[in-house]
Amino acid sequence: MKVLVVGGGGREHALAWKLAQSRKVQAVYVAPGNGGTALDQRLVNLDLTDVTALCRWAQEEKIGLTVVGPEQPLASGIVDEFRAHGLRIFGPTRQAAQLESSKAFSKAFMKRHGIPTAEYETFTEAAPAHAYIDRMGAPIVVKADGLAAGKGVVVAMTLQEAHQAVDFMLLDQGLGVTHNAGGARVVIEQFLGGEEASFIVLCDGRHVLALATSQDHKRLLDGDQGPNTGGMGAYSPAPVVTPEVHARAMREIILPTVRGMEKDGLPYTGFLYAGLMIDAQGKPSTLEFNCRMGDPETQPILMRLKSDLFDVLMAATSGELDQIELEWDRRWALGVVMAAHGYPAQVRQGDVIKGLPLDGSEADCTVFYAATRQYQGQTLTAGGRVLCVTALGESLRQAHQRAYAAVDQICFDGMQYRRDIAHRAMKA
Ligand code: AMP
Ligand code: GLY
Repeated sequence: MKVLVVGGGGREHALAWKLAQSRKVQAVYVAPGNGGTALDQRLVNLDLTDVTALCRWAQEEKIGLTVVGPEQPLASGIVDEFRAHGLRIFGPTRQAAQLESSKAFSKAFMKRHGIPTAEYETFTEAAPAHAYIDRMGAPIVVKADGLAAGKGVVVAMTLQEAHQAVDFMLLDQGLGVTHNAGGARVVIEQFLGGEEASFIVLCDGRHVLALATSQDHKRLLDGDQGPNTGGMGAYSPAPVVTPEVHARAMREIILPTVRGMEKDGLPYTGFLYAGLMIDAQGKPSTLEFNCRMGDPETQPILMRLKSDLFDVLMAATSGELDQIELEWDRRWALGVVMAAHGYPAQVRQGDVIKGLPLDGSEADCTVFYAATRQYQGQTLTAGGRVLCVTALGESLRQAHQRAYAAVDQICFDGMQYRRDIAHRAMKA
């Protein structure tokens, strides 16, 4: 069967890399793909991003299964469009994708269904937002309502920072995010303390299958300093998700969400990613939902997945996830993101990347490409997050050593990466 992966980041490279390992898969197309999927002999890049054009192409090529990486096409209704044309696709419908695309929708949903999350209020006007901040005190969290690639969140440690964030998001509309109701909106919520983890499951509308746990590193710099990014590295599993925390997350968050969506007439299909904050007592709360896999969490998670991803996704698009049991490599996986000069603010493109392994991987280490392109036999940077160097190890320390040994071979002008991925678990 021919399969299509929609997207062009490191997550999509990993999805395509894994699907290409299935003996049942005859061709893997990646739209639009990147400089790494272009190099990989088993993958074919497709220069299409428009949903209607992709759908027409998938019909003509008789694509048997499509999986969507990023949130944007999901929020634009790619799943609705493909299904309307009889194509098999894994992801949530446009309406169900609001769990990610609208913070106001997801917060109201959680409140209605009793799913633990921070107390919040939504504002369209600056004056009541400022009053609310004064009443609640700091620390407090201000979030833009809309897709902002992780950059629309300000965790304000002082009242002044919180007031500035409100003015920036509501008055200046400085983020340029697409606001759902036409006017800008912010969600202001209670600050939650604890340790974060990424809890990602597959849903077929009714059944749920949990993937291995992971932990991302959102800040740009070592020691969790600097601005928020899309994610600078991840590892799997995340020890903070003990068996008890896992059971609670399933019972208190994931299952009520899937049942709630079904009850609300929006049955959820696709990857569901709950960003958890786990407090000192082991109680998980929902920081956010994403309607897709995480990037870079996907890279270490799929390095550990032994099962055939194609079989899993076929079951997931047939309502048969209850028939599947996933098999995992018991080793640790750790991925280090290498980002371009200026990321996450003003990204420079076109730097030549040197020292890449020839076929993308060596024993137990794979370099997943993200914002890259091929030009005259060279790989150039073409955006913010450039590579995710991912390694397996018997211990986290070994995975760490292997990944950084490969990172140390790679070089491009202005490269930025953290040296402390998995620092929390390695200290423990
Ligand atoms: P979000 O895009 O909502 O996941 O927020 C991005 C990051 O901001 C999260 O990964 C957390 O590190 C932080 N964050 C968001 N909401 C809260 C909260 N209520 N309390 C503490 N930190 C938060
Ligand atoms: N790595 C966080 C995300 O994909 O949203």
